[in-house]
Amino acid sequence: MVEVETNTGQGVPQVVIVGLPDKAVTESRDRVKTALENCGFRHIRTRTTINLAPANLRKEGPVYDLPMALGILAATEQLAMPRLAEFLIVGELALNGALRPTRGVLSMAMLAREIGRAGVIVPKQNAAEASLVQGLEVYGAGNLRECAEFLANKIKLMPHRHDTDLLLAAQAGHELDFSDIKGQSHAKRAMEIAMAGGHNVLLIGPPGSGKSMLSRRLPTIAPPMTLDEALETTRIHSVAGILPPSQPMVAARPFRSPHHTMSDIALTGGTADLRPGEVSLAHHGMLFLDELPEFKRSTLEALRQPIEDGAIHVARATGAVAFPCRFMLVAAMNPCPCGYYGDPGKECRCSPVQIQRYRSKISGPLLDRIDLHVEVPAIPYTEMTRSAPGETSAAIRDRVVQARYRQYQRYRKQGQTNAALGARAFRAHCQPDESGHEFLRSAVTEMRFSARAYDRILKVARTIADLDASEQITTRHIGEALQHRALDRSIWT
Ligand SMILES: Nc1ncnc2c1ncn2[C@@H]1O[C@H](COP(=O)(O)OP(=O)(O)OP(=O)(O)O)[C@@H](O)[C@H]1O
Ligand SMILES: [Mg+2]
Repeated sequence: MVEVETNTGQGVPQVVIVGLPDKAVTESRDRVKTALENCGFRHIRTRTTINLAPANLRKEGPVYDLPMALGILAATEQLAMPRLAEFLIVGELALNGALRPTRGVLSMAMLAREIGRAGVIVPKQNAAEASLVQGLEVYGAGNLRECAEFLANKIKLMPHRHDTDLLLAAQAGHELDFSDIKGQSHAKRAMEIAMAGGHNVLLIGPPGSGKSMLSRRLPTIAPPMTLDEALETTRIHSVAGILPPSQPMVAARPFRSPHHTMSDIALTGGTADLRPGEVSLAHHGMLFLDELPEFKRSTLEALRQPIEDGAIHVARATGAVAFPCRFMLVAAMNPCPCGYYGDPGKECRCSPVQIQRYRSKISGPLLDRIDLHVEVPAIPYTEMTRSAPGETSAAIRDRVVQARYRQYQRYRKQGQTNAALGARAFRAHCQPDESGHEFLRSAVTEMRFSARAYDRILKVARTIADLDASEQITTRHIGEALQHRALDRSIWT
């Protein structure tokens, strides 16, 4: 919380702002002065000192305009505002006194509730967003005069109300659907498993085989967000300033697909003004990296820690923050630079060295965090024209939701997925039956699977068992899990 203290005293008429203000905050001085005058208030005739406390925290942006203007009104005793102490207030002022929307309002409203304020006053356009916090009076003000007169009990404002259940239910319908995809039943099944257990997934196949198509349809089979999840994600989007005013809550799981030319900072977050990056914007949703080997190696390496921790710490000169980032990684790539390695229909023109270099862009530690590697072969033209429409997203989603519910019952923790199991829970819950054990051991040695694949296969088998409504992990579940480890099989290495 930043407190704005205002004092007027003797001396030449000028306004001094102290307390580590950045450039935008010092510019407030002129905006505040002009806005006050244009709203019919007296301008400043004495020396005025504004202190932004705590002094050791750098203040940035124009959000303190409105509190400063109100502070000046109070200090110069132009208007008695008995209700001032009841509210947390933010807002940027236009020269005519109108309020402009700002970012991060949801976090501020949460803070207001935490410290026991009765309510918040925010720019009108941000009111819907603030009203997502229950048990808080939210007022949206159009301009400085309206806000001041409300605090002086001269006028009434209607508190802003929201029905969060309604917002959650009003998830936008999807234009895409899994039934658009012909054939590819193996890949579709892999997507279902990935979503059911929250597993990271990598799709590998020649150009035009439908990798991007499959990935873009993942949100259509994602389980609905809980209210807490929706609020957490909304909060991040609010801080990033990308919430559209017409849609104050992120009610559907985000699907972020940054381009491979993106900078490392755009991925991890932490520009000078400490904005969240793509990994955090994808919180509780999906991060889709299409053409994975095209990403800079440093960008891919920067992904490792957030995938592991579900949170990212960014430190800049202006301060340090931690943003949550629990997302499902979805990546797509061709098997080689020309794209046709292993394709029966078209010959690959790449040399082994080229292929090696291309694949080595994706390091072992990153691959290690991806549970499913799925081959998406080109499908023959005949199959494309002939095959009947497949299952709809709604049908797949029902099974995903059931499987997630089984995980919730087993782990007794909201949102806990098989993919994110800790070591101890993994040992307790992902043990196959006797024959399953035997089968996995021989498969790993005979098919020359890498050692690190072992745990991954068991986790995926756990999810397959959950889709099968089975508490036991059997040979059948392990057998299917083995099929989704393309990169561990010897033809790939
Ligand atoms: N299984 C399929 N069913 C229906 N249409 C398909 C299928 N696979 C590919 N297509 C068609 O081919 C187009 C290209 O597919 P998509 O963009 O998903 O390929 P890709 O695997 O991502 O290729 P690239 O490696 O070049 O990115 C799609 O827009 C779609 O029209
Ligand atoms: Mg593609």
